Amino acid sequence: MEGWHYPRTELAEQYLGLLALGINSSLAIIAPRRKGKTLFILQDLAPLSQKKNYIPVYASLWQNINAPHEGLIAALEDAIASFDKKSTLSRLLNTKIKKTAVSNELLGKMEVEFADNPSKPTSKELAYLDQLLNILVEKSGKKTVLLLVDEVQHLSTSSQFDPLAHTLRTMLDKRQGKVKSIFTGSSRHYLDLLLNESKSPFYHFVEEKKFPDLDVSFIEFLREKLARNHQITIAIQPLCKAFSDLDQSPYWMMKLIAQMITSKASVKDSLEYVHQLMEATEDFEGISKRLKPIDKLVFLALCQGANPYSKELMAKIDKYAGVKGVPSNIQRAIKRLSEANLISQIRKGGYNIEKPGLKRYLEQQN
Ligand SMILES: Nc1ncnc2c1ncn2[C@@H]1O[C@H](COP(=O)(O)OP(=O)(O)O)[C@@H](O)[C@H]1O
Ligand SMILES: [Mg+2]
Repeated sequence: MEGWHYPRTELAEQYLGLLALGINSSLAIIAPRRKGKTLFILQDLAPLSQKKNYIPVYASLWQNINAPHEGLIAALEDAIASFDKKSTLSRLLNTKIKKTAVSNELLGKMEVEFADNPSKPTSKELAYLDQLLNILVEKSGKKTVLLLVDEVQHLSTSSQFDPLAHTLRTMLDKRQGKVKSIFTGSSRHYLDLLLNESKSPFYHFVEEKKFPDLDVSFIEFLREKLARNHQITIAIQPLCKAFSDLDQSPYWMMKLIAQMITSKASVKDSLEYVHQLMEATEDFEGISKRLKPIDKLVFLALCQGANPYSKELMAKIDKYAGVKGVPSNIQRAIKRLSEANLISQIRKGGYNIEKPGLKRYLEQQN
């Protein structure tokens, strides 16, 4: 929705400050889908970086899910063209902002997270990619190129993308100082494979940073806009509660706001509507069908922050899941849940839930 962007300049300052320190020239920002990463990069970070003498170049590896190198090539070509005044960098960013809105609506309606026909880039294409970066660096003069690579975890979802991962790492490594990069990742599981596996080209190359959830000041911002522009006055409490029910996702929160405006519905009714929309869009029914009974029990236990290897859960699995409640079975369930992107393991132990709303759905099925 236009005019509703809540700026996060301070956060952008923090990330750029880290890059300016010079200890690391590559950062990775991690959060699940629909948490506002792409818009933050395009609306807050890229414009601020321009003021700080960077040339921001935004590329999404999901632009062509089967050929992620294409997104990088197109982004570099566009950036180079902008020097020849075919377009300005700001206009490029605006075009990407509009595209984001469209692709957010398509996400989930089809399985777009994984390549169905992954293709290897040719060595010619990889050489061309490197060449494009050379040209851009040259044109940038004293300014530093800031490569913003969205959905970078995609590189570790197919071995066909290994050559691209190697090339990208080399491209960045040999130009440290002249080129910096910020990656975003929406799956901790696959991002971990990319950044923390010793055989990955990105091992120890990138500093991982959390992308914090939006907080109460975002809700305050929405509340004020509702009152000022739409004469809808709401107490902060129910709005905060709804945001928390939506797992702090700005995407679903904006659906709620839109529903309140267009249907003049209460927060409660709008929330119910959004939950149903979420259920349909994210295909919870399909996900639920693909899960084994043990997977569901383990998932719900993890949602409650419980130890998946507890005696209680093992007994429950024995009783209800049709398989033995033993650690090896639980381990396999955790692996399936991770690969399906529903949870991720944190190295210190503990788990993240990566699918907002699924817990509520599964609980209602029982
Ligand atoms: N700072 C923000 N202010 C207002 N709405 C936002 C903000 N960030 C995200 N949104 C909403 O959430 C949606 C998803 O954001 P997006 O950046 O695409 O998430 P991600 O990249 O994490 O999947 C946007 O289309 C927008 O409606
Ligand atoms: Mg995104």
